[in-house]
Amino acid sequence: MRLKYIHGVSAKITYRISHELNELNGITEKLDYLAWLGVDVIWISPFFVSPLTDFGYDIADYRAIDPTFGGLEDFQKLLEKAHTLDIKVMIDLVPCHTSDQHPWFQEARSSRDNPKRDYYIWRDGRDGKEPNNWRSLSGGSSWEFDEPTNQFYLHSFLKTQPDLNWDNPAVRDEMKNVVRFWFDMGVDGMRVDAIWGISKDPEFGDDSPNPDFHGDPEAYGAFIHDHCKMGPHFQEYLHELASVCDEYDDKQIVFEFYPDEKLGDIYQQYHRVMKAHPKASAFFMEYRQDEWHAEHTGQKIENYLRAAGSAKPFFCLGNHDQPRIASRLGTERARALHFLNLLTPGVSVMYYGDEIGMTNGELTAEDIQDNFSPANSVIDSRDLERTPMQWDDTQFAGFSSVQPWLPVHANAIRTNVLTQAMHPDSLLHLHRRLLHLRRNMPVLQRGTLEVINTGNGFVLGIKRELNSERAYIYINFADAPQHFFIPEHTEIIASTRPHRSIIRKNGQLTIPSHCGILLLHKGKWLNSRP
Ligand code: GLC
Repeated sequence: MRLKYIHGVSAKITYRISHELNELNGITEKLDYLAWLGVDVIWISPFFVSPLTDFGYDIADYRAIDPTFGGLEDFQKLLEKAHTLDIKVMIDLVPCHTSDQHPWFQEARSSRDNPKRDYYIWRDGRDGKEPNNWRSLSGGSSWEFDEPTNQFYLHSFLKTQPDLNWDNPAVRDEMKNVVRFWFDMGVDGMRVDAIWGISKDPEFGDDSPNPDFHGDPEAYGAFIHDHCKMGPHFQEYLHELASVCDEYDDKQIVFEFYPDEKLGDIYQQYHRVMKAHPKASAFFMEYRQDEWHAEHTGQKIENYLRAAGSAKPFFCLGNHDQPRIASRLGTERARALHFLNLLTPGVSVMYYGDEIGMTNGELTAEDIQDNFSPANSVIDSRDLERTPMQWDDTQFAGFSSVQPWLPVHANAIRTNVLTQAMHPDSLLHLHRRLLHLRRNMPVLQRGTLEVINTGNGFVLGIKRELNSERAYIYINFADAPQHFFIPEHTEIIASTRPHRSIIRKNGQLTIPSHCGILLLHKGKWLNSRP
């Protein structure tokens, strides 16, 4: 059986989305809304037992739910309701590190000959200092000295997140069993967190300096990560993990993956990941680079699809680690990119609240909760994109009846689900229209994608084709109206701007700045449309 969400849309939901309920029940309560919107897969951030030093990405028990989020019965109810509504459920797998509170690590650090010692990565210091120059993504060295056994342990993220040693077959078996545990419970897929560190240089050589970096010489970006990640067993271990899907008919794995240009051809890296296994995929995260360029965007999409081969594409506009798209690009450009993202093949991933154009929170240093933010700095803090979902214009935006852990954005007074649901021209309704179109038009689900020459460098043109059906998507990247030729016998089906602002004359279209438009070739589908 093929997965239904091959053609679906996934919504990333983090934390509580309802008041007086625990987080999982809050999500369950809002599944009807997601079904109304047309979402058919949800991806939920980690809700496992955790001291929450990295909001759940520091797991102390992979098989139990943290009471902050609810209990196992709550999760089972969530699964049941989601499946009744035809919504699939993906959860996070965090396979490359645990919490330092995990019993494995507690045992491992107790003595050098503890059987769990080799679950983690331990090294002697070099001249009394860290074993090498590897940097943690959350700042500082990746090595932490552990007094009781007089050795350093490796942590690619916070020091409360010690790296697991994937070269140990017992660790690989543990993780495969975690995947089986949740798949057996009915979970449909897993987003695999921070997978690039699954294999490292066995010699633990120093990372090379990055000649293009001119900031703090100790920063993560000051190095090319040619030793600390994507080591010789990278593909082999990915394959092993993804092979668990083979034991089931309809499960999916998607790897978190940010291509690293310094490590060679980025699409080759995609290729290596996505070719590794047919039920495994990797996210397309290129939009986060915010390069606003018609031709380059088209090339990136085509290259990614080529690299994906037969794997399912996962086009991603944002997540809990990236500034909100509406803040990055501005409302109009973001709207155009949403339009594009919803009309590309595979799974179009959106982050909660993006469908109403939520922007980065307005936070002060005192508000910051994320331990990745250096010295509680607001700039670049991931808390900016993690503020509560804006349901309505009440005090806590319908999210909670008490002050939530991050302040609700002041713009919730206008930017909220309830208000936009009442306005047919809203971003929310645009999402809903496109999601329902996708469902009903096979060419948008299964059609091939080809970037076409529009004769206008500011306008990206995309043709989707399936048998005799053809759809054309155009995005105007310019700050001014643009015109371009369009194929004959086509009809405008959807656009980001009112139809009256679009002029069709002598085989050409003139569309406003940052406008997206969908045309359909007048073929079989149009004639049989209800
Ligand atoms: C991933 C997660 C991020 C987390 C990190 C460490 O990048 O998306 O939120 O902090 O891994 O697990």
